[in-house]
Amino acid sequence: MKIVAILAFGLLVTLANAQGNYKKVCYFANWPYYRPGAGQYGVDKLDPFECTHMIYGFAVLDKITYEMVVYDSYVDIDLGGYQKFTGLKTRNPNLKTLIALGGWNDSAFSTQYSELVSDPAKMANFVSKALAFVRQYNFDGLDFDWEYPGDPDIHGSWENTVDHHAPLYRRDYEIGKEAVIVSEAVDYWLAQGMPAQKLIFGVPSYGRTFRLANSSQTGLLSPAIGAGPQGPYTGQDGFLSLYEICNYQKSGWNVVTDPTGKMGPYAYQGITPLSNAITATLEGRPFNTNTPAPTPTPFPMTTTKAMTCTSEGSYYADPANCSKYYRCVNGKVVTYYCQSGLVFNSAINICDWPYNVPGCA
Ligand SMILES: *[C@@H]1O[C@H](CO)[C@@H](O)[C@H](O)[C@H]1NC(C)=O
Ligand SMILES: *[C@@H]1O[C@H](CO)[C@@H](O)[C@H](O)[C@H]1NC(C)=O
Ligand SMILES: *[C@@H]1O[C@H](CO)[C@@H](O)[C@H](O)[C@H]1NC(C)=O
Repeated sequence: MKIVAILAFGLLVTLANAQGNYKKVCYFANWPYYRPGAGQYGVDKLDPFECTHMIYGFAVLDKITYEMVVYDSYVDIDLGGYQKFTGLKTRNPNLKTLIALGGWNDSAFSTQYSELVSDPAKMANFVSKALAFVRQYNFDGLDFDWEYPGDPDIHGSWENTVDHHAPLYRRDYEIGKEAVIVSEAVDYWLAQGMPAQKLIFGVPSYGRTFRLANSSQTGLLSPAIGAGPQGPYTGQDGFLSLYEICNYQKSGWNVVTDPTGKMGPYAYQGITPLSNAITATLEGRPFNTNTPAPTPTPFPMTTTKAMTCTSEGSYYADPANCSKYYRCVNGKVVTYYCQSGLVFNSAINICDWPYNVPGCA
């Protein structure tokens, strides 16, 4: 079983305008607050000088009123998320802070955004309430982040071959074929008259992973049979964050770079391989914008009778093998193994990096 992942960069950067000013627009996501261990972060960790514009994701549309509302009142309000975020401007007065409405989770599967923009009465109400929202919480603006169907990554594990998720340039094997290419999308916008200084070029900071069909075929366009395993922090099939990929890379994956420099690298690894490639996309928002909190996962292998189940859903670390753990599922003990390079961390019930688990490093 092999896996390949494709990675891209961190932030939304931009095309510089003629004056040499440029916007470096960054998204802040509120849900990594719930990630385990080192994956946990909140507004407190932001550097107010990192970007020229920072966007807080996400507020959502109220299902009944079609008005913009707070999504996670605990993180956004009770813990002071909004307030601390806009407060970054006290340290960097040139910073602009915006609130994003929508995102993948709220807008990609719903007809609500179409219903809103096609109804003038709903729109008029939305606009006045959105303006009040932005002012109430002291944001500088609103990012209307409607990710309508068809908007996401260009390639990923829903396909049966491995490829970069957002190719910047057309590759030789795409010449003369229909293909979505990021640089060509930029050219298209410019050709249609969009001023360059109004184009924001998105660079996704995550990778897509694939499980390879044949362990001898590890390159791009190799046959794939589904998504790679979940990362220890982000907990989503076929997806890894930049920092998860960096850790895998340090743990010895094979990194393959493109000698022509057209494409970013990818990586793969023996048993649970992965590839990551640095690519860029015009679509700046992380594809997994509303990644659910991670769940302990890995691969169910066998059931065992050696233990007895006392509490449904409970986890038990194997005392003799750091990568092995058990869980009570429907009254039975099920044995699991963490993916290669990870060990079970019983403090947070998740497969984790060995250095986070005493005795397993
Ligand atoms: C796996 O790939 C190798 C190298 O391309 C090839 O020789 C072999 O036949 C493939 N195996 C299967 C089962 O397709
Ligand atoms: C994503 O949307 C679903 C359905 O509305 C909701 O139940 C879930 O809490 C959302 N998750 C996040 C992280 O936004
Ligand atoms: C833990 O279990 C895995 C899967 O059976 C095995 O490959 C590995 O060698 C074991 N590690 C130790 C330290 O026994």
